[in-house]
Amino acid sequence: MKIAIDGPAGAGKSTVAKAVAQKLNLNYLDTGAMYRAAAYAMLKRGIEPSDRTAVLSALPSLSMEIVYDAGSQKVIADGEDVTPFIRTARISKGASDIAVIPEVRLKLVDLQRNAAQHYDIVMDGRDIGTYVLPDADIKFFITASPRERARRRFLELKETVPEADIDEIERDIIARDKTDSTREFAPLRQAEDAILVDTTDMNREQVIDFVSGLIAEKKRR
Ligand code: CDP
Ligand code: CDP
Repeated sequence: MKIAIDGPAGAGKSTVAKAVAQKLNLNYLDTGAMYRAAAYAMLKRGIEPSDRTAVLSALPSLSMEIVYDAGSQKVIADGEDVTPFIRTARISKGASDIAVIPEVRLKLVDLQRNAAQHYDIVMDGRDIGTYVLPDADIKFFITASPRERARRRFLELKETVPEADIDEIERDIIARDKTDSTREFAPLRQAEDAILVDTTDMNREQVIDFVSGLIAEKKRR
């Protein structure tokens, strides 16, 4: 079974994808982590993720591997486990910048499709239903209002980043959604056959129950 989950930043994609993967005993691939890892690896080499020429010359030597440790995904980029370092605002922006470059996307999409060939999988990202797995068994487009998505990210951050500012988070999210949905190659877009789930007024459990219910129904048919 292949399940595609797409949507804008902070909509709850990975929360739902992880829960569904656990319930149905499927593998989970967080493709956003791969774009984040690519941005991190470039910055580490002193390259701005938006500098297309420099990124293209470094791309052939960028190595990336996804490994699972006690069920959780780790991304190894250039031989380093970058998982703990890729959730910052700087890397979010860098990921969105590097994700515009088609050659970067093709390299990562190759790895993603390869994983889907070998395992039953739930994948979340921006272009899974439209580009990476157009033949997925079931597709979801998960969204929520920008304010609600910023509120969720703010609650998540405030313990570790006391200076976190909800308005700034909302501005960053809106800017990233714009970059993601206006790029030319594989932009963020709802696939025609995706089920739209607006989670603005839904809590985690409600979203997980709703999505798992539809998947169970699909499996029965
Ligand atoms: O993967 P994506 O960026 O779409 O979002 P996420 O990381 O799954 O969720 C962002 C935050 O919102 C997490 O802290 C979730 O626990 C929370 N969340 C929520 O409060 N209500 C939901 N219906 C879904 C997620
Ligand atoms: O969790 P959040 O929604 O904040 O972001 P993410 O899913 O970790 O993705 C980070 C960035 O990677 C996004 O803003 C996109 O620019 C890019 N991305 C993409 O272009 N295609 C994907 N399939 C996944 C992520």
